[in-house]
Amino acid sequence: MKTKVAIIGAGPAGTALGLRLQQAGIDCVVLERQSREYVLSRIRAGILEWESVQFLEQLEVSTRMHAEGHRHDTIKLGWQATKVLELDMRALAGKPMMAYGQTQVQEDLYAAADERGLPIVFEAGDVELHDVLGSPSVTYTVPGGDQQRVECDVIAGCDGFHGASRAAVPESARTEYLKAYPFGWLGILSETPPLPALIYANSEQGFALASQRNPMLSRYYVQCPLTDSVDEWSDDRFWSELLARLPASEVEDLVTGPSIEKSIAPLRSFVVEPMQWGNLYLAGDAAHIVPPTGAKGLNLALSDVYYLSEAIIADDRGDADGLASYSARALPRVWGSVRFSWWMTMLLHRFPDQTPFEQKAQEKDLDYLAASAAAQTSLAEQYVGLPF
Ligand code: APR
Ligand code: PHB
Repeated sequence: MKTKVAIIGAGPAGTALGLRLQQAGIDCVVLERQSREYVLSRIRAGILEWESVQFLEQLEVSTRMHAEGHRHDTIKLGWQATKVLELDMRALAGKPMMAYGQTQVQEDLYAAADERGLPIVFEAGDVELHDVLGSPSVTYTVPGGDQQRVECDVIAGCDGFHGASRAAVPESARTEYLKAYPFGWLGILSETPPLPALIYANSEQGFALASQRNPMLSRYYVQCPLTDSVDEWSDDRFWSELLARLPASEVEDLVTGPSIEKSIAPLRSFVVEPMQWGNLYLAGDAAHIVPPTGAKGLNLALSDVYYLSEAIIADDRGDADGLASYSARALPRVWGSVRFSWWMTMLLHRFPDQTPFEQKAQEKDLDYLAASAAAQTSLAEQYVGLPF
């Protein structure tokens, strides 16, 4: 098979890129290792920057998001058990956010792909990249075991942190920046009415977050040691930890109930530079990972896709410079979100080796935020996201 762009990975990055290229009349095919059901079963974060909302509108996949998503103007921060700061993003930074799950975004992207005939090959095994510096191609196996080859001009590596694309770049041609945090987030979904506010809490027992999916679906998280397993976390234990960590004034109406999903995710920050090598271009989690504290992962994947699709479209129209500068255009926004997510993580978590000095400095940071309009504006403009 011959195409212009072979896209590896049909997560949000790969599927959105496919839809954008198809809109521009550029031939592409998407190769996904997992089944569609598997991709849709992954539970991930759920806060969209307004920039992402507008990009999904441009892709014409925003109808359900506008009907079911929840426009969100504020977040709350809690610390030292009783202190609560409400930040109005619209007042501080001129833009709201949208609470809408990544799973729903992915469903909408697949529905559009079906409707518009975007070719996505699910269960494509053993994906390998060939001759990336010359005439590129990608081989894969179909469930029966037969090998297929896609010849292309451009390979888009959208296959996540553990994918084949980044690994195909020789070590000498990439620099990796990694920070691992000494804890994870235990997250649950429960069919209970969520708290009205999105609340990030720094407490003596560790971080906690109250979030939502829809009027009868709540999403909560607590910081936990990396060595914990979900079996050690009964629902009762989860709820009592959550209630102890969120500010008392915010949880009077918190409704508990059985969890319908429970998982632990490690926290890390990661960036590879550059985000391209020969005819291979990396986007989304293939190029960077952020801890979920700033809710940036999906948003950053979509901004990469914006830059990469613009570059491929420019290239298709004869401007070779577009692709050459993709990484240089995408990286400043990547580092902006990576730095912000790191800063939010450092501000809100308890570190196992935290000294009393660091503890005091962390509390002062939060007190300063409560007292300074400039500090609030700085947080807000980064939380709502810088323009593409
Ligand atoms: N071959 C083909 N597909 C692959 C391979 C491979 N070797 N390896 C991984 N994949 C697929 C995965 O199965 C997954 O569906 O690539 C897809 C990558 O999707 P994501 O991990 O969701 O990454 P991305 O599309 O960049 O979206 C980033 O997802 O992880 C969250 O927080 C993150 O919200 C962010 C978003
Ligand atoms: C979520 O709703 O899952 C969520 C919200 C905000 C975050 C992270 C996750 O910062």
